[in-house]
Amino acid sequence: MQQVNLTDKIYFLGFNDRRTHLFENIWPIPHGISYNSYLIVDDKITLIDTVERSFIDEYIDNIEAIIGNRAIDYLIVNHMEPDHSGALKAIIQKYPDITLVGNKKTFGFVESYCVNPKNTLEIYDGYVLELGKHRLQFQTIPMVHWPETMITYEETNKILFAGDAFGSYGTLDGGIFDDEINLDFYEVEVMRYFTNIVGKYCQHTQRAIQKLTPLEIKMIAATHGPIWRTDLNWVLSRYNKWSSYDLETGVVIVYGSMYGKTQEMAEVIARRLAERGIKNIRVCDVSKTHLSYIINYIFKYNGFIVGSPAYNNELFPNVEILLSTIEHMAPKNHYLGLFGNCSWNGGGVKNLKTFAENIKWEQVYNPVEEKGALKPNTKEELIKLADAMADKLLSE
Ligand code: FEO
Repeated sequence: MQQVNLTDKIYFLGFNDRRTHLFENIWPIPHGISYNSYLIVDDKITLIDTVERSFIDEYIDNIEAIIGNRAIDYLIVNHMEPDHSGALKAIIQKYPDITLVGNKKTFGFVESYCVNPKNTLEIYDGYVLELGKHRLQFQTIPMVHWPETMITYEETNKILFAGDAFGSYGTLDGGIFDDEINLDFYEVEVMRYFTNIVGKYCQHTQRAIQKLTPLEIKMIAATHGPIWRTDLNWVLSRYNKWSSYDLETGVVIVYGSMYGKTQEMAEVIARRLAERGIKNIRVCDVSKTHLSYIINYIFKYNGFIVGSPAYNNELFPNVEILLSTIEHMAPKNHYLGLFGNCSWNGGGVKNLKTFAENIKWEQVYNPVEEKGALKPNTKEELIKLADAMADKLLSE
């Protein structure tokens, strides 16, 4: 083990996962992910969160390399999702007198995962736990990312142990602290982590940011991704922007297409938007570009135009999955356009209209539907749709 210290007595105990293809078995992580846990050595030895279960053996070895035969006194459970609680049982088995520290919602989760600690300590907002030279303070930040989620603030060194908040996809490839890394690598991965995992809970994220604002924070140690000790604003400003739906001018065009007819319609719209001066245009084939990246674009740009062919008189299935995910996450402040194609009786555009009613984004133009090959009249309608979107975005 190569020992990494946040301070003299606070240790990083993280692992890189480069094997898992899909985080939560949904979201692609081509650059992997890290699971970060932390250890404070004082009169009372304290572990903050654990790691995913596949790292248990090395994790315990690494703890022993630091504390030898001493026992751990407290295990702070900032978040019970198994990527962080995966080693809970093993730690309790190894240190049976350990006290699990959580809030009133934590221990219901602990019980439901059949974890049976001998000792528990229920904390509340502002509770202070003295470890010796270190003092820990707690604040709950519900829904960032689960109902029980909380942060631990180490008052002596002003370190925020933030749980999932301010986390990122992407492994820690040698560099662990922000000043050791070219952050370009994390530009997309931090945002994808936020939009994929916490994006549904933007209001809760805003509340958490406001709640943490009074704390003087010198270091942010999240459960995934880099530790922020130099340019904290890099990650704070991004989380604040994304969770307040502060969108850039641009259009995401997403389509499903079996034989290229709906794609051809998307190309007409994209070209016209470019002619009108829209510089941020992303065109995605929903069968090729994973949901994770499309959701990310939607949290970035304020225009969304979606096209679907009819498939068995319904939406194209991959479009349907995308739209139900968008409805579930319900991002705000978008303008919407709809188009589609059919060969029989339709069903694509009909269901896009249902999506429009549900999501309640402002529709900039009537839905455009073609039957079979694209014809001049329909092409004109697509150009009008693109014009209406450009007019709306450029007048903002
Ligand atoms: Fe990284 Fe919500 O667990």
